[in-house]
Amino acid sequence: MKKNKKPSLIFVLILVIIIFVVCSTLSVEGRNNHHKNSRAHKHRKRGNGNGNNVPGPDHSPCSAPTPAPSHGSDPTPSRVFDVLSFGAKGDGVFDDSKALQAAWKAACMADSATLKIPSNFKFLISPITLQGPCMPKLVLQIDGTLLAPPTVGSWPKSSLFQWINFKWIHNFTIQGIGTIDGQGSAWWNLSQLPYIQKRSKHIPGMKPTALRFYESYNVTVRDIKIINSPLCHMKFDDSGSINIDNITISSPEDSPNTDGIHLQNTKDVEIQHSNIGCGDDCVSIQTGCSNIHVHHISCGPGHGISLGSLGKDKTVACVKDIVVENIIMQDTLYGARIKTWQGGIGSVKNVSFSKIQVSNVKVPIMIDQFYCDKKKCKNQTDAVAISGVKYNQIIGTYSAQPIHLACSNNVPCKNVDLIDIQLAPFSKSGGSQQALCLNTYGKSYAPLVPSSIDYCLRKGGTAYNSLTRSHKYTC
Ligand SMILES: *[C@@H]1O[C@H](CO)[C@@H](O)[C@H](O)[C@H]1NC(C)=O
Ligand SMILES: *[C@@H]1O[C@H](CO)[C@@H](O)[C@H](O)[C@H]1NC(C)=O
Ligand SMILES: *[C@@H]1O[C@H](CO)[C@@H](O)[C@H](O)[C@H]1NC(C)=O
Ligand SMILES: *[C@@H]1O[C@H](CO)[C@@H](O)[C@H](O)[C@H]1NC(C)=O
Ligand SMILES: *[C@@H]1O[C@H](CO)[C@@H](O)[C@H](O)[C@H]1NC(C)=O
Ligand SMILES: *[C@@H]1O[C@H](CO)[C@@H](O)[C@H](O)[C@H]1NC(C)=O
Repeated sequence: MKKNKKPSLIFVLILVIIIFVVCSTLSVEGRNNHHKNSRAHKHRKRGNGNGNNVPGPDHSPCSAPTPAPSHGSDPTPSRVFDVLSFGAKGDGVFDDSKALQAAWKAACMADSATLKIPSNFKFLISPITLQGPCMPKLVLQIDGTLLAPPTVGSWPKSSLFQWINFKWIHNFTIQGIGTIDGQGSAWWNLSQLPYIQKRSKHIPGMKPTALRFYESYNVTVRDIKIINSPLCHMKFDDSGSINIDNITISSPEDSPNTDGIHLQNTKDVEIQHSNIGCGDDCVSIQTGCSNIHVHHISCGPGHGISLGSLGKDKTVACVKDIVVENIIMQDTLYGARIKTWQGGIGSVKNVSFSKIQVSNVKVPIMIDQFYCDKKKCKNQTDAVAISGVKYNQIIGTYSAQPIHLACSNNVPCKNVDLIDIQLAPFSKSGGSQQALCLNTYGKSYAPLVPSSIDYCLRKGGTAYNSLTRSHKYTC
């Protein structure tokens, strides 16, 4: 063994020289190359303890058995931009927003780039706007955790509208096994309310939405977990072609106004195979939405899946072509609901709620044209016209009332069909309220349980035509 020491030492020395030469060549090339970070960090061993994640020469690629591929010959150039390579610490304490912004800018400019949020790290992020337009096929791969500012006081006063704002992005995917944590508990605490009221001069009591997508198209969000938002977990406005698949949204039942997914002025949306539990609507569909397909969702706790509230402060509301099917609702306040304020105008048309299994839901089927968030709202003649609403196969248990359809006197609901509704009280003591239908026209088809549903709706429907005419051309 001793005899071999000398030659092996020389061999090691040669190897070190080779490695040094290769390394410095790569690093010089890297500095002149826009895609340095993808290459340098592709094979990076994370958590190797030097604690210095500032972009710069990195010797770890040299320890990889194969050299970094050259982009010229790479058939599918996938460029990975790891946020750790842009100065992020990932310790959950240091503010990594600047690093995320820098990584976004780099990834945004590269074709088919992946911005990576690695697992086993927590990144504290201040309110941030991640803006396009970007090169096509950008992927945000979230395997680690993104943390919002932990206390109400640590949010900058000027940006209380949302936490992470995706703006003007097309052809974009968010995926991964990671978590987006809005750390909202402080915002839900009633004892904090006077303090929150003072935070925003313009909108007193304003709380931030966790993820917002603004004017964005062809966006996919899948697999990730979004938890504990101060307000809505995810909001899409003025957007289209959205696909949400296999995500988890979770916040406590008593967290106020924490909608799961909130859609506004957004078209062509598919929300599927996801678990949503929160303190407000699991999915909330607002004005300007059409062609929305929500299916294979488990909802609860929460307030169910809702259209509205629509027509607040005499505004115009237009919602059409909504399909909600294959849903499991457990321990929610409502099931399939449409809510409008008195005095609004516009219409809700072509809505289908089907195959909804309810368990201990307070009111599984609800249309409320007298929606009011105060003790009392003034009666008004105008109302958002509701027509073509189908409830099909709504089956399970309720705790207060099986059906509550309260439509306006002046603008009755029409073509509301009840098909195969089978609802039983959850417990012997609960569910005492009878089915209620007010100014609601439509047809019902057996089986209908309780049988009071059968004579709840008003049959026919020519009498109201003149009354709703004024709404026909609004949308
Ligand atoms: C999005 O992708 C489609 C299909 O690949 C392409 O036609 C379109 O130009 C892309 N849009 C943007 C803004 O990159
Ligand atoms: C949507 O975006 C994906 C990439 O994220 C792209 O492959 C696809 O072609 C786009 N589709 C359209 C219709 O733009
Ligand atoms: C609510 O705030 C009070 C006072 O700041 C605090 O003592 C309490 O622990 C908070 N509760 C929660 C659930 O955060
Ligand atoms: C759903 O997402 C989880 C991560 O949250 C992942 O482990 C699982 O493979 C995904 N399922 C499908 C069908 O993509
Ligand atoms: C109702 O909406 C569904 C889903 O968007 C759509 O496929 C269907 O064509 C619409 N029906 C009418 C009559 O507009
Ligand atoms: C408002 O309308 C509802 C439903 O028609 C009725 O029960 C109520 O008495 C009205 N309230 C006032 C103040 O007119």
